[in-house]
Amino acid sequence: MDIYRSWKMFSKIVKERNADQIVLVTSFPLREKLHGEIEKIRKMVPSDLEIVLIPDGEKAKEWKSLGRILTQFTMLYLTRKSLVIALGGGSVSDVVGLACSIYKRGMAHINVPTTLLAQVDASIGGKTAINFLGHKNQLGTFHQPIAIFAIAKFLRKLNREQFIDGLAEIIKAGFIKDYEIFDILVKQKISELRKKPVVLERLIQKAIAVKEHFVKQDFKDNGIRQALNFGHTLGHALELKYSLSHGMAVLYGIFLELQVAEKLGFVSTTKMIILKEMFDLLGINFNCHKFKIDRKSILHDKKSFGDKISFPVIDMLGEIKILKISIKELIAALEKCN
Ligand code: GLY
Repeated sequence: MDIYRSWKMFSKIVKERNADQIVLVTSFPLREKLHGEIEKIRKMVPSDLEIVLIPDGEKAKEWKSLGRILTQFTMLYLTRKSLVIALGGGSVSDVVGLACSIYKRGMAHINVPTTLLAQVDASIGGKTAINFLGHKNQLGTFHQPIAIFAIAKFLRKLNREQFIDGLAEIIKAGFIKDYEIFDILVKQKISELRKKPVVLERLIQKAIAVKEHFVKQDFKDNGIRQALNFGHTLGHALELKYSLSHGMAVLYGIFLELQVAEKLGFVSTTKMIILKEMFDLLGINFNCHKFKIDRKSILHDKKSFGDKISFPVIDMLGEIKILKISIKELIAALEKCN
């Protein structure tokens, strides 16, 4: 599965698939906003292009939205030889990937991520999901897209929140593997990064390389891939409860998980000072007092088993290890954090 940064190979890849039908799934707002791009895609595919519309954001990841997609697929008589194009942010690629993996036991799809978060993380690696009973990504599968077209042009239209969503995953990539990401970030004013396409492109390439590094080693997420979940155990526990954007939730999650690791004695205070300094340098300040993590959210985390959880811990910038700790210990350490 390849990731392309331009449309150059799109027609060839679609043609080679020789699909009996091609369907594009996107959200209602994106249908309007990306009208020009959708028409461009229509011209690049060899047959008619049906369009299926779903809600935007986390609403896309509801049971109802999955049902809507599968109903449309059925009404269009799609087969295992059909091809689906998922155009949108991480929520679109998550739910469309899931629909494609279960429809007739598997149908091919291409991801066209339109947000920074989706381009550096969500659309890569074949994880698909919807939320369920208030828990993030509770139902899902592993189903690789046949290709990903992460086109830089889409990023020009992002708002501040969408930008921070992606930036959080880039910062995470810096913590877990590629500390050079911080060398680049600390020289920038984060608020101006959006206007610096060359720097942004470098950061995107680096974050994609980090993602691919872990996915290649452990596609089914049984071990080292869990490093990509750094900041997400506690981040996800806050995201739906406090209606935070994914990016802010992950940044809070990273901050809290660093503190938990220190309280549990896995990271020395000296190292913690260096790690926390990264947040200061990036101008990110947190008030963790206002959030309370529910024990149940941690029990529902996909890294938990029995009364234990796999917990990614940063040893130094760019170095991560996955520890198995008891959930009781984790919660006790969390209560001591400030
Ligand atoms: N977003 C985490 C992963 O793909 O494993």
